[in-house]
Order: sequence, then C-alpha cells, then structure tokens
Amino acid sequence: MNSLSNAREVLPLNDLKRHTSALAERIHEATARVIRSGWFILGPELEAFEREFAGYCGAAHGVGVANGTEAIELALRAFDIGAGDEVVVAANAGMYSTTALLAVGATPVYADVREHDLTLDPDAVRRAITPQTRAVIATHLYGRLADVATFRALADEHGIAFIEDCAQAHGCSRDGIRAGAWGDAASFSFYPTKNLGACGDAGLVTCRSADVAARLRRLRQYGWAGKYVVVDGPARNSRLDEIQAAILREKLPLLDGWNARRREIAAAYAAVNAGDLRHPDVSGPGYVAHLYVLRSSQRDALRRHLAAHGILADVHYPVLDNEQPRIGRADLSAGLPHSVRAVAEILTLPCFPEMTDAEVAGVCAALRLWQP
Ligand SMILES: Cc1ncc(COP(=O)(O)O)c(C=O)c1O
Repeated sequence: MNSLSNAREVLPLNDLKRHTSALAERIHEATARVIRSGWFILGPELEAFEREFAGYCGAAHGVGVANGTEAIELALRAFDIGAGDEVVVAANAGMYSTTALLAVGATPVYADVREHDLTLDPDAVRRAITPQTRAVIATHLYGRLADVATFRALADEHGIAFIEDCAQAHGCSRDGIRAGAWGDAASFSFYPTKNLGACGDAGLVTCRSADVAARLRRLRQYGWAGKYVVVDGPARNSRLDEIQAAILREKLPLLDGWNARRREIAAAYAAVNAGDLRHPDVSGPGYVAHLYVLRSSQRDALRRHLAAHGILADVHYPVLDNEQPRIGRADLSAGLPHSVRAVAEILTLPCFPEMTDAEVAGVCAALRLWQP
C-alpha cells in the first residue's frame, strides 16, 4: 500500500521547519544585515520591500503594516469607513474581515459565496448593496482569485470601494493582472504559513492612489504627518519591521517557484477520483494553492481515514463569521446556503512546497482508498 501508514512521522498540514531550514543562510544574513545597520523600524529594507512587492503585484503603491488583519482595518480607515457604514463580505473567510470591520465600527453585511469556488458571489453582493454600503471586501479564498473583474465593475458602478483580501493569494492572477492590482486597496498577510511568509507577523496594503498610500502611511503610525504631529485618525501603531522586511525581500524572488510546486501538488490530488470527493478547480494562474480544500459529504470520516494513514487535515474554517459567538447572528445563515453547506463538507489537505514526491503520492494513495 503506497500510503504513509508505515512512515515513522505523521505528515503535517504544513512544515515551517523544512521551509526555513532550506533558507537558513539567507535569513541569517538578512537578519544580520539589519542588526548591523542599527535601523529597526521604517527604514531602507521596508522601503525596498514595499517597492519590490508592489512591483511584483503590479500595484502602484505598497505600504507595510504589522499584519494582515490590520492591513484590512487600515484600508477601511483610509477610505473613512466607520460607524453607520455597511461593507459586504463573505462569512466563510475566517473572521479576519469581520474583525477589521468591528475595529472600525462598520457593519459587516454577509453575502453568500459561489458553490464552485467558495468565493464571494457577485450576484449576492449586488443584492446586498444598500445606500449605506461603502465597500465590498472579496477574499481570494484558499488561493483562488475571486471574480475580480465583476467586483471592479460593480464597485465603479456603485461608487463604493473594492478591497481585495489577498492574504491567501500572493501571486495569483487573471488576464495577467495579479491579486493586489484589482482593488482600490488590497490587504496582504505575511503570516509564516502564507505563500510568502515572514518569520513572524507582517502585512501590507497595496493601493492605486498616491493619496490613499500617503494616508495609509499616516494611519499606520499614530496619524503623524511628521514626528509627533498628529493630523489623521483614528490611527494605530502598525508597522512592518526592518528584520521581517529584509527576510521577505530574500524570499520574494522564490515565490513563483513555490507557487508552481504548490500547483503541482494540487494537480496531483485533483486527479484522484474516489468516493464522493469533490476537488477544487486547480487550473490556471488564478489559483496558487494556498490551501488545498476538497469536499466530502462524510468530511469527518474522511479526516479520520487520512489520520489513520498518517496524514493530518484541518478545516478552514469551521464556523461562519455570523455564527461566531461574538457576532451571534446564526439567523443570517438561512440566506447563505452555499456557505453553510461548505462548512460541513470542507477539508484541507497538506499542500506546501517542501513536500516530497513520496509524500504527495502517499496522500493520493490514501485518497484513492477512501470509501464514504
Ligand atoms: C484570508 C485571510 N485574511 C486575513 C488574514 C489575517 O492575517 P494576519 O494573521 O496576518 O492578521 C488571514 C490569515 O491569517 C487570512 O487567511
């Protein structure tokens, strides 16, 4: 049996030790470079990374911040979105957008996702728009680009902001235009497990307008126009530090290669026909396989089956935002049928660039043995 059942070690969902040890020398050198310089916050490494990453995305501007959640929050603040404003979001994307919306005092309005890729459904968004709507946040879930062209047109038509949440979608594209270049603003997380990850927390906002970029630079640092002079707000202290920026600069040139390997693994999984498995669409540059999420009506049994073969799986995400205890709006789920069904069926398999061919084959073999 070509599975991992006899392997000594369990296959984890991700393995940052492998990822980082392959890069140890570059990371040590980048870290040492910053320590030698004595400049730790808002310095030349961040400036260079902002330029390089925005350039990679094809976005006009990049503003580094402390993490991906504050990237969403600061993007909202940059458009003056707050109390009394509505923002349309998906409910199945891990609570990050909702957290940012709660922080600024705006109201999340949940719209359903599309059955086939679990990203926000433009028709559902259109129905959710009211005179109070100020923005739509589309999360490129699992590394699959949402329907960006339609959201771009919809936002222009209604005079609202289109914000992309690109935390899971570094490098994915449509018509040659990458995630981060479609929205009025786009948030990125460089949490260590992301396709491009730091050795700690980090985030960034890309945007189209120089004014919005200037505003983001003020809002990420107390609202300062210059030292100690507060002209903007409500602001935050939310900065991407020099060590993380230097590490991210070392890693950025490797991102496309990692994404290619992720896609290769995803394609191998998607070729397995077994039981009631429903695979994601892994085709094209609009997918960078951040998480490989398949579906089964017997999800929990499938998870146990994989565990019995030494393969760890997880659920992203097990609770819809509106059903979170803090939100307490389970009643809204009746209007989100695709989101509700997906929560019961989704399962995330290991999919990271450092997986060996034998491990990938082992996962495929275990999937082939699946009988619901
Ligand atoms: C889709 C999505 N948005 C936002 C975030 C928030 O990023 P961070 O953890 O850096 O705050 C994450 C991941 O953590 C995410 O997956």
